[in-house]
Amino acid sequence: IQRTFSIIKPDATKRNLTGAINAKIEAAGLRIIAQKRIHMTQKQAETFYGVHKDRPFFGELVEFMISEPVVVQVLEGENAIKAYRDVMGATNPADADEGTIRKEFAQSVGENSVHGSDAPETAAEEIAYFFSGLELVG
Ligand code: GTP
Ligand code: MG
Repeated sequence: IQRTFSIIKPDATKRNLTGAINAKIEAAGLRIIAQKRIHMTQKQAETFYGVHKDRPFFGELVEFMISEPVVVQVLEGENAIKAYRDVMGATNPADADEGTIRKEFAQSVGENSVHGSDAPETAAEEIAYFFSGLELVG
């Protein structure tokens, strides 16, 4: 059993897609063991996406992530990191497989509806950044 960190991004919360995305998460066999709606600060968004700070789209990415509330989540399941990335689909919705969250809901490579951790180390860091242990109810 593994845990991963997820964000339902501003483009999705704005269009009232939290429930539709959660339905896809649950249908993929992942259990939502923690969830809260927050409005990220600029500092939180810059720290969270710090790995991309030298990329040309960094400013745009941070502005987008603080433009509306987001829903941060912890998902648990067998191979949760890969299982979630599979149901998310490719970063660019134009490349995403049929049935994935990004194929169905994402608007562009930037406004792509969801984030999911990419490795066990980043999952642990990202979960600890947004949640206390007491908030994880497995
Ligand atoms: P995350 O789960 O959000 O980390 O997506 P990812 O792992 O599929 O993609 P990556 O880590 O490479 O990029 C992080 C995020 O930066 C993406 O999800 C997009 O929101 C954004 N991003 C990536 N490439 C571009 C781009 O070319 N333009 C813009 N505006 N945003 C981008
Ligand atoms: Mg990533």
